[in-house]
Amino acid sequence: MFKDRMIAFIGPGVMAEAMINGLIKNKLAGPEGISASGPELDHNEELHKRYGIAVSFNNSAAAQNADVVVLSVKPQVLDHVLPGLKGSIKSGALVLSIVAGASIEKISNGLSHSIVVRCMPNTPAQIGEGITVWTASKDVSAEQLEMTRQVLGALGQEIFVDEENYLDMATALSGTGPAYVFLFMEAMVDAGVHLGFSRKIAEQLVAQTVRGSVDYYTGRDPNSHLARLRNEVTSPGGTSAAALYYLEKAGFRTAISRAIWAAYERSQELGKSAKSHPPEQSGSNDQ
Ligand SMILES: NC(=O)c1ccc[n+]([C@@H]2O[C@H](COP(=O)([O-])OP(=O)(O)OC[C@H]3O[C@@H](n4cnc5c(N)ncnc54)[C@H](OP(=O)(O)O)[C@@H]3O)[C@@H](O)[C@H]2O)c1
Repeated sequence: MFKDRMIAFIGPGVMAEAMINGLIKNKLAGPEGISASGPELDHNEELHKRYGIAVSFNNSAAAQNADVVVLSVKPQVLDHVLPGLKGSIKSGALVLSIVAGASIEKISNGLSHSIVVRCMPNTPAQIGEGITVWTASKDVSAEQLEMTRQVLGALGQEIFVDEENYLDMATALSGTGPAYVFLFMEAMVDAGVHLGFSRKIAEQLVAQTVRGSVDYYTGRDPNSHLARLRNEVTSPGGTSAAALYYLEKAGFRTAISRAIWAAYERSQELGKSAKSHPPEQSGSNDQ
């Protein structure tokens, strides 16, 4: 599909590298069909050595021959990047943005280009185990939708949605989701240490319990409900019943629900005003 096509990555950071790696590993594109543009000369050189792709520190030069331009910069630099790219995107090229909170309208207006896909991946994409929710402007062709599926497939699973509002919902659920899971796991590990396990063993117990539970859930009958699985491990008067009583009493479900709703509202706010975005740490994976 990407034979004789050029894909340019504007912002060659962690997520872009995950995509480049996936595209090459899955033989969807060769190094000769990929370029990346970023401000760090040394980092660019490193990418060139690692993948054999063309590199540049000139965004518009990288974009101008590309059939797919991936915007993979951090949200706070997008306002500087869009004016620099304006006029350099080939007419008919696909712009694929993974920038959190940046609406299709913002990108289309910023580039004066109407063929735009907006995506929300998550951190496990870095090992090809992510899930990306995406949507497209009406000018994206059927072939470009298929190209998007393939590029995003390099990061793990992908789900197309036909309304952009779902992107804010996905930001709150799956985009931010790894943070909730890591916090939950961290709390379990600390509890294990409190009980008397070494941290190493507590971490192993927790990681494998989470991994095994997910595999058990996804490997079962698709109609099976999570509550049923939970009931299966909750014998009357047993240890799970005692623990679940405390979780419910502490408002565990409500806390999760409110947290995800807060992330959803924050995502909507960020989409409306770039100025309300708090400063992000360089190298942080914060969405
Ligand atoms: N990481 C995740 O799990 C995740 C999940 C969902 C969405 N996202 C979104 O994906 C995007 C990329 O995230 P990331 O984690 O890959 O960030 P990252 O590692 O910081 O990558 C951003 C890249 O952009 C480069 N850059 C900075 N200014 C630039 C400019 N003016 N022109 C071109 N490149 C520039 C950076 O170079 P320097 O490092 O030299 O500044 C860096 O290589 C973000 O918008 C984020 O919201 C990320």
